[in-house]
Amino acid sequence: MSLQQALWSGRFDAGMDDSTLAFTSSLEVDSKLAFYDVMGSLAHVRMLRSCGIIPAEDADAIIDGLKVILSEIEEGTFELDFTQEDIHTNVEFTLTSRIGPAGGKLHTGRSRNDQVATDFRMYLRDAALAASESVDRLMMSLVRVAEEHGDTVMPGFTHMQHAQPVTLAQHMMAHAFKFSRDAERFLDALSRLNYCPLGAAALAGTTYPIDRHMTASALGFKGPTENSMDTVSDRDFVTELAYCAAQTAIHLSSLCEELVLWSSQEFGFIEMADRYTTGSSIMPQKKNPDIAELVRGRTGAVVGALMTMITMTKGLPFTYNRDLQEDKRPVMDSLESVIACCDIMSKVISTSEFKVERMMEVTSRGQINATDLADYLVTKGVPFREAHGIVGAAVRCSIDTGINLEDMPLEQLKGFDQRIEEDVYDVLPVRRCMERRNSYGGTSPSSTDVQIGRAMEQIMLRDETVRQEKQLIANCWKALRE
Ligand code: ARG
Repeated sequence: MSLQQALWSGRFDAGMDDSTLAFTSSLEVDSKLAFYDVMGSLAHVRMLRSCGIIPAEDADAIIDGLKVILSEIEEGTFELDFTQEDIHTNVEFTLTSRIGPAGGKLHTGRSRNDQVATDFRMYLRDAALAASESVDRLMMSLVRVAEEHGDTVMPGFTHMQHAQPVTLAQHMMAHAFKFSRDAERFLDALSRLNYCPLGAAALAGTTYPIDRHMTASALGFKGPTENSMDTVSDRDFVTELAYCAAQTAIHLSSLCEELVLWSSQEFGFIEMADRYTTGSSIMPQKKNPDIAELVRGRTGAVVGALMTMITMTKGLPFTYNRDLQEDKRPVMDSLESVIACCDIMSKVISTSEFKVERMMEVTSRGQINATDLADYLVTKGVPFREAHGIVGAAVRCSIDTGINLEDMPLEQLKGFDQRIEEDVYDVLPVRRCMERRNSYGGTSPSSTDVQIGRAMEQIMLRDETVRQEKQLIANCWKALRE
């Protein structure tokens, strides 16, 4: 790059050589901020004009020039000059080359340090809203399965061993509520990041009589950030979203792990739709759950982005350091990845066939109702600890004889404890075990109905929050284009 071209070339004798430029450039990544960069500049220049910091005719020329650049960005025709190190310099250079020296007034009272933080917050605000929506779509697909399977009995596991009978609804809602917190977390992170850095300038604020509240509100932020040094030195808003994405990816991974297991011959709990599975190049019988595996695999990079952010920002001295330029790619990628994963998994879930009979059959095999027999003895006055021992012996006998507890004749059951009576057959069938767990949050159909209602409320509330926030942002963009 020739020395004259660099924004900051004044005090230098020699220009950057190409390899230095290539090493320092962030254009490949931050070109994704182009739209936000222009919006930020439109807000900034309007504020400069209204505060009388630059002449109105210069401001108007800048606004007209920026509008042309904006439409080129939207049409995909804005040409990036890779001799300019980032998107901010690209926009400013293009503007100045088109409208002349007036373009040079745009950067009055700001620095790329506050500019990049502003652009990235606007980008991440949209990304957080999109992520929350996409997680909610996935949650909705799980709720739909739960609605259909309120009395589909399946084994509940601890340590991957049959523990107690549950319903498919209860199992799906367990995943659903994890995603509900994930969707909520994105919006919660947004409430902290939604403050405007513009005007913090390089680090210390500016001597110009700027109005930071004006630019903040023009860009749809809740207000300006409070401290200029804090503003340009931190990326905790990025790290927080990286965590939101990582936690979502971990929940996705756990869902996918189950779906992979469930589609195995050993489980046989689901069959995924053909269009979301793949075959083998050599084994004609194969139907592989590749999508679930890929989603599980992509967790690695998403968690990696969180580690990148945490490690990168650790021990940085105040205030802006170029290290901070490295914050974009990992988090942009991880948010994109999580959104794509949620979108495809909601399709996988809503097109999978759940094998109701197979689930019931494996639940009925074995002694999954042992806790219920112990609880039954407790109702007959037996201390739980003693009941546990009595049922242990019954389970031993059931394993040895291959006769399920509920299929043993009363005489045989009485052999374990005389207090067992005919009414034991009301608690032993696995369906009854499930139905009787009707405590709040439990697995009975009446309890899962409550859960489904609560989940729908949560989705609808978020839906409204996201709708309002998007509307507010859209109104800002509309006003800035006028
Ligand atoms: N491209 C930089 C970034 O992404 C912004 C420029 C600030 N550069 C500087 N030398 N102060 O962080």
